[in-house]
Amino acid sequence: MTMDPLDTLSNEHGLIRQFLDNLTMAADHIENGRRPSTAFFEKAVEFGRGFADGYHHFKEEHVLFVRMAQKKRGEVDAQLDALRHQHERGRELLNGISRSLDGYAAQDPSKTVDLLENMAAYSSLLRHHIHTEDHLFYPMARKTLTTQEFEQLSGEFAKERERQGGDAFERHHKLVVDMGSIITHLREPAR
Ligand SMILES: [Fe+2]
Ligand SMILES: [Fe+2]
Repeated sequence: MTMDPLDTLSNEHGLIRQFLDNLTMAADHIENGRRPSTAFFEKAVEFGRGFADGYHHFKEEHVLFVRMAQKKRGEVDAQLDALRHQHERGRELLNGISRSLDGYAAQDPSKTVDLLENMAAYSSLLRHHIHTEDHLFYPMARKTLTTQEFEQLSGEFAKERERQGGDAFERHHKLVVDMGSIITHLREPAR
């Protein structure tokens, strides 16, 4: 049985939200004087690039959005532009997070602030984006696409899954679990 392609995407949103919860916890630690390891943030960048962007956003932009643009003939172009712009902005913020990591590791205070700012913006942007897709865009797509188009979408998603080794979700789920265990085991600094 193939999974409903929009449910597949929503399910991926669930994993992205779990990842963002970890980022929020990390920010909270930093604000309170505790420093999660640089490895935590390296995993975060790996997840953001590999899964949120390289897998999930890729399928949206190259499969779902293309199909919706063809189907609605200009009617949803502004909406699609906004969603694509948010993906792009997310990439920039992720690059910002990545750029601050050497400085963060060296305990450079201004790089630590850069990291906090970029994480907060990234997390807020993606939560808003996911909410819009789950509550507005996907329901609209569900009403618009025919059963046959749904099956084509499933087929294209399955192809992408295979292209990425068949285990993109599982691999990245593990990364989120690892991030979670780093962040939960972080203790108060010795005084
Ligand atoms: Fe998206
Ligand atoms: Fe999405």
